Amino acid sequence: MRLLMVGTGYVGLVTGACMAEMGHHVICLDIDTRKIAELNKGSIPIYEPGLEEIVKRNHEAGRLEFTTDYRRGVQETEVIFIAVPTPEGDEGACDLSYVLQAARMIAQSMEGYRIIVNKSTVPVGTAELVRQAVSDELKKRDVDFSFDIVSNPEFLKEGSAVADCMKPDRIIIGSDTEVATEALRAIYAAFTLNHDRILIMDIPSAEMTKYAANVMLATRISLMNEFAAICERVGANINQVRVGIGSDSRIGYQFLYAGAGYGGSCFPKDIRALRRTAQTIGLVTPIMDAVDGVNEEQKKLLAAKIKSHFASRGGIKGKTIGIWGLSFKPNTDDMREAPSLQLIRELLHEGAKLRLFDPVAQENARSLLQDEEGIHFCKDEYEAAEKADAVALVTEWKQFRFVDFREIQRHMEGKAFFDGRNQYKPQEMRTKGFIYYGIGIPSSSEKP
Ligand SMILES: NC(=O)c1ccc[n+]([C@@H]2O[C@H](COP(=O)([O-])OP(=O)(O)OC[C@H]3O[C@@H](n4cnc5c(N)ncnc54)[C@H](O)[C@@H]3O)[C@@H](O)[C@H]2O)c1
Repeated sequence: MRLLMVGTGYVGLVTGACMAEMGHHVICLDIDTRKIAELNKGSIPIYEPGLEEIVKRNHEAGRLEFTTDYRRGVQETEVIFIAVPTPEGDEGACDLSYVLQAARMIAQSMEGYRIIVNKSTVPVGTAELVRQAVSDELKKRDVDFSFDIVSNPEFLKEGSAVADCMKPDRIIIGSDTEVATEALRAIYAAFTLNHDRILIMDIPSAEMTKYAANVMLATRISLMNEFAAICERVGANINQVRVGIGSDSRIGYQFLYAGAGYGGSCFPKDIRALRRTAQTIGLVTPIMDAVDGVNEEQKKLLAAKIKSHFASRGGIKGKTIGIWGLSFKPNTDDMREAPSLQLIRELLHEGAKLRLFDPVAQENARSLLQDEEGIHFCKDEYEAAEKADAVALVTEWKQFRFVDFREIQRHMEGKAFFDGRNQYKPQEMRTKGFIYYGIGIPSSSEKP
């Protein structure tokens, strides 16, 4: 089938490339002319494992094209996906301006029936707003083409987006016409050969499912972080508790990690958007309020631990801290709402000097932090630890799992290690000579 992907970001580029890999002809469209020029030259603007290979292969085979031209994109394709940003707007509401702008631009180029599929994460009722925007635009042109609107929220995870897209847990299709449902089934058939994972539902339920999933996942994280705070004070170890509760099949092991807080371009804004939806219809959301609130506090925790460690050691001013991992999670270069940013700004504010390292997000971090003084970007985790009074691990990249800690120790000035993702065994770190701080680890094991 001939498909148009409007928005060539983390979702649009990955989904477009995966659909081309399955044999569809895909045009990826973006208003960012630089991004499209880069893609046409063969350079991939984001880091996602496995993405470069499938983009190049399908681009060379002519199945994957890149354009800024709406007219061409809309006229040469049958089904149009919208995958543009839906950032946080006023009072936490979802900002739909990009989605509605895309809908209007699509309508300005339509010359016949089209299926318009919304992949962006949007509040219930957005399909109707998109329908209205398209209708209004067609009316302005004094033309009358029929079209269908479908909700097809995306569930890929940055860091494993290609794998998630090629083997989705489920594909949600919210549709109110048979023609559109069957078209979407046909597009996704290749992704579900092994067993049917397509769930057809009404449009509002599809829109709501995406928010409900993200809020559920964020809730697990915040609840684990709350348990971790209790563990630290009562002498329990959250790592052991995690295994203990995860073994219950009703709970499971996934998404049960205490840490330095969640970030990224989805969880924080999606929780606030659903909460705002509830508020506008007069509902209160105490659970969601708490999930967001706990996370905001959690993102301050590493800085608080670092400050408290140095309080009896002459204060943090002038101390050098190495920071391992900057992206909001491993295997991505995405820095949106990354907990590292809050930590970095807090430590700089207190007068610390920072040595930063991330395997792929370094350039994005550099541009976000360009106005800050007191930062040195390093070539690897060893250089980041050089002459450091402390090291803090913020993002659990795999390459940090097996580090030569004796070597790290030799080059450090101090002995403190702040493990924001509980990657290491407290006892082993202490044996290696570190003053080790984890999240939810009893304080007795933090002392050397
Ligand atoms: N990133 C994720 O992991 C993820 C996962 C699931 C769902 N989502 C949702 O998918 C949507 C897109 O997220 P993303 O991370 O891919 O965003 P992104 O910022 O990476 O990419 C969006 C792209 O859309 C382009 N764009 C904006 N307005 C446009 C327009 N009118 N016409 C054409 N292109 C336009 C931007 O230039 C940008 O390249 C959001 O609603 C997000 O919540 C994201």
